[in-house]
Amino acid sequence: MKNIAILASGSGSNAENIVNYFKGKEGISFKIYSNKKDAFVLERAKRLGVPFDTFLKSELENGSFLSKLVAEKTDFVVLAGFLLKIPDDMLAVFPDKIVNIHPSLLPKYGGRGMYGMKVHEAVVAAGEKESGITIHTIDDHYDEGSVVFQATVPVLPTDSPDEVAHKVHELEYKYFPSVIEDMISKL
Ligand code: GAR
Repeated sequence: MKNIAILASGSGSNAENIVNYFKGKEGISFKIYSNKKDAFVLERAKRLGVPFDTFLKSELENGSFLSKLVAEKTDFVVLAGFLLKIPDDMLAVFPDKIVNIHPSLLPKYGGRGMYGMKVHEAVVAAGEKESGITIHTIDDHYDEGSVVFQATVPVLPTDSPDEVAHKVHELEYKYFPSVIEDMISKL
């Protein structure tokens, strides 16, 4: 059995999509963790029947959350709309085993403070003709690490940030689960 931890700070539509993709496939179990006690992802976890837990930013930073992941025999970590920085001790325990999805074509529109709608607003404000997704492993900088997969989508001059967000989410739903599946198969 491979134990996958999904970390999410917000709505969790990617987390739900990932869990649904793996339904009926053997050998994978999920647990959803959030650093926000009122994050909608926890409602989704309840509805999906997936175990879930919450933790404080301080527990991420002082290693107690990491100890919990290790005690639960976590094999792989998926960041799906997770907004806190992963500390070095966790990177050391999960080398190349933490994957993140970012809603732009990194290195464009990444870095501290660039998340969710802020990314799409910046893309539209800059008049970009395309945007997309980047799936990457994590290193000790925000939105850096090795790119595992990118996909693009056209941005029309008439597109609002909401419309770009919608298109990018569709790409996330289409590709993130199978990229995770491929990474897990190599563990
Ligand atoms: C996703 O679009 C994800 O790419 C983005 O947050 C959204 C979460 O949506 N992540 C980042 O911006 C990380 N820097 P969801 O909660 O509905 O899955």
